[in-house]
Amino acid sequence: MPFRQATYDEPLISEMRSGSTYRIPGDASATVLKDLPGEILRKDLKLPEVSEYDVVRHYTRLSQMNYSVDLGIYPLGSCTMKFNPKLADLVSTFEGFSGIHPLQSEETVQGSLKIMYELQEYLKDISDMDAITLQPLAGAHGEFTGILIVRKYHEDRGDLGKRTEIIIPDSAHGTNPASAAMCGFDVVEIPSGPNGTVNIEALKAALSEKTAAFMITNPNTLGIFEDQITEIAKLVHDAGALLYYDGANFNAILGITSPGLMGFDIVHFNLHKTFATPHGGGGPGSGPVAVKAHLKDFLPVPVVSMKDKRYFLDYSMKKTIGKVSSYFGSFNMLLRAWSYIKYHGWDGLNENTLDAVMNANYLSKKLSAAFRIPYKPLKKHELVLSTEGTGKKALDLAKYLIDQGVHAPTVYFPLIVHEAMMIEPTETVSKADLDNFAEMLLKSLEVEEEELKKMPRNLSVGRLDEVKAARDLKIRWD
Ligand SMILES: Cc1ncc(COP(=O)(O)O)c(C=O)c1O
Repeated sequence: MPFRQATYDEPLISEMRSGSTYRIPGDASATVLKDLPGEILRKDLKLPEVSEYDVVRHYTRLSQMNYSVDLGIYPLGSCTMKFNPKLADLVSTFEGFSGIHPLQSEETVQGSLKIMYELQEYLKDISDMDAITLQPLAGAHGEFTGILIVRKYHEDRGDLGKRTEIIIPDSAHGTNPASAAMCGFDVVEIPSGPNGTVNIEALKAALSEKTAAFMITNPNTLGIFEDQITEIAKLVHDAGALLYYDGANFNAILGITSPGLMGFDIVHFNLHKTFATPHGGGGPGSGPVAVKAHLKDFLPVPVVSMKDKRYFLDYSMKKTIGKVSSYFGSFNMLLRAWSYIKYHGWDGLNENTLDAVMNANYLSKKLSAAFRIPYKPLKKHELVLSTEGTGKKALDLAKYLIDQGVHAPTVYFPLIVHEAMMIEPTETVSKADLDNFAEMLLKSLEVEEEELKKMPRNLSVGRLDEVKAARDLKIRWD
């Protein structure tokens, strides 16, 4: 199917003025405004004056210049977002949920509290952990929360002055060292072993009485399961440190094993990856954090508890790190995750995991003749290949893919693979889509480099100056 993205010269919403006289049926704002006393009418708010139909058309046009999970495969490795079932979206719009206020009395929001409570229980069950907070607003925010708990735990034991280091493997996602550093720890990076997993000797050498925690994701960002995880847990605990699970890759193990069984003390979930909610970066996201019983008292407050069949906001955590978000987290995302779990049931969630792993392995097989796939051949939910040896740059091949109307995989991550392409198809793609994706990637190898450098041509934006974008970052409109 030939692809060409829509292109509009669209202004910012703040620059738009409809000058419309059309009023939405039932919209009383025009008459209400006339009746308001002049002194409370502010003129300096600079709000866009745009009619409903202009707003709808503006955002529809913008959406046509974009790509989304509703449009096609979204195989960003590691930070992927799978298809979001419309049922979960629908539930989150029910008026009983969307119309409530976080300051309402508990009596009037028992249903919403029940859902939060049930989600807490489901996530605890799934992870084999003992207690949980739903407050963090993204995976990275979950990490930040988890590492604050590490900090408080050592502080409580009078150990914080001594335990200043967090060990992280070199395959880790960038948010791991960033979260550790933001919480005041020194980051100690250890190299991966020859098969892409934790190098146990390097870990032993790095562990000391200065170690506060070891942060790791399993399967790791190469899509490989750390099969020495129980030995790792023992080593870390024997050193008096905590073991932190970055749950970004939960979709690879759900219903098969769990961080609790592997010996982890703290876990964050990226709801967008395993439980079908929007990604934190696009916001709002959610990154609940679960802990083993010995860390329960450090959780942010409140959590939702139940007594005598009544749900209530529980502030009883004696050594709490405090609050990490206003109110109770991204309630809308929690509703979606709860609906997704209910919708699938345990068996369904497990099937999704098996399909996600199968899809990654299927792609791996299809691509392995043309690309070098470093480390062990059997992957879990994602695969990392290298374009080295093909004569092509990963970035150029990614531009080719988006020019064909396919979302590109992550490129140049993990850092330990040169010219990396990290692909996570998830379970929500058909065989036809997988075949199409593989075929396009293989075709991209046949395109002359000169041609590739001119891509994308079929999008609303052409090739960006990546260096300028990185060096001269502008993230606000003046
Ligand atoms: C391994 C890993 N850790 C942490 C994160 C950060 O999570 P988030 O993007 O939800 O902040 C990601 C990205 O999704 C990830 O892939």
